[in-house]
Amino acid sequence: MQQDIQQLLNKVLTSIQEVGSTDKLYDLKVQVLGKSGELTSILKGLRELTPAQKSEIGKIVNDAKAKLEQAFDARQIELKHQETTALLKSQAVDISIDKHLRQIGNFHPLSITRNRIVNWFVGLGFVVHESPEIDTEYYNFQALNVLDDHPARDMQDTFFVGDGVLLRSHTSNGQIRAMESIKPPLKILSPGTVYRADNIDATHSPMFHQIEGLVVDKGLTMGDLKGILSLFAKFVFGEKTEIRLRPSYFPFTEPSVEVDASCNCKSGCKICRGTGWIEILGAGMVNQKVLSNCGINPSRFSGFAFGMGLERINNIVYGITDIRHLYENDLRFLRQFVV
Ligand code: DAH
Repeated sequence: MQQDIQQLLNKVLTSIQEVGSTDKLYDLKVQVLGKSGELTSILKGLRELTPAQKSEIGKIVNDAKAKLEQAFDARQIELKHQETTALLKSQAVDISIDKHLRQIGNFHPLSITRNRIVNWFVGLGFVVHESPEIDTEYYNFQALNVLDDHPARDMQDTFFVGDGVLLRSHTSNGQIRAMESIKPPLKILSPGTVYRADNIDATHSPMFHQIEGLVVDKGLTMGDLKGILSLFAKFVFGEKTEIRLRPSYFPFTEPSVEVDASCNCKSGCKICRGTGWIEILGAGMVNQKVLSNCGINPSRFSGFAFGMGLERINNIVYGITDIRHLYENDLRFLRQFVV
């Protein structure tokens, strides 16, 4: 009997180590120490023994029982720990995110250039005065002294969206809207999107952007216009940049000029086509008729205005040779312009 107990003890101790879960350990415990368990039945069998045997074997059985209980408890703690660890692992949430999933966006190059230009003019006291993209013929043409027979008023050049209503073909409508709503002296900048019935190619797009500037005050001259534009050219293209004014014609300015900036290439490049000069904008003294159209007395006030193509300035600054890159949303292109 002693031997049976020892064998059972060894067998169960080994099984305890082999069991792989707390559930199975519990089953094993019931199987050995439960009401009808193997060790329990041995204890029950003691009844048939003599008192001397009873005390001798009883002690052995109790020892074995104590050893087993200890082994069961120890293994229970071990398995419970393993199971908890496995559970936590399986339920774990990975709170770290792959840095590649969090791509930080950057401004579109046109926004970068627009913001640079706008901020510069704001620093000189200009106020941003945006005007509608859908406007009437009056604001886009008539009030600006663009007469009925002007080619720009042709259906082929301008997108008409209704009777006398159009997608503005330039930001110069902003001049009229500003002069109608602000009493002179005024100093405004009107950036925005403009539309022309052009096919898209490397240098044209039916939608593009302009920045219009207008200053109205007492005693302004071409000297003031040239001074500001000369500083502006140095700011956008670099300190060494010079400008030259060429006589031109716009119905809303008199006199009118086209402004060229000196090219940095010196030796003649693709952008300046070997001339050393790049046309950057149109400008002039506000036509007295335009001032009158807006209720401003031309004998008291004078003004100067300028309008530049944002894409043009942007592409000169960055050396971009095809305007289409700006609209195609190719991230490989756009990601190059991080400021
Ligand atoms: N609106 C003209 C254009 O789109 C540009 C321009 C020329 C604006 C002379 C002006 C200006 O304000 O004075 O071609």
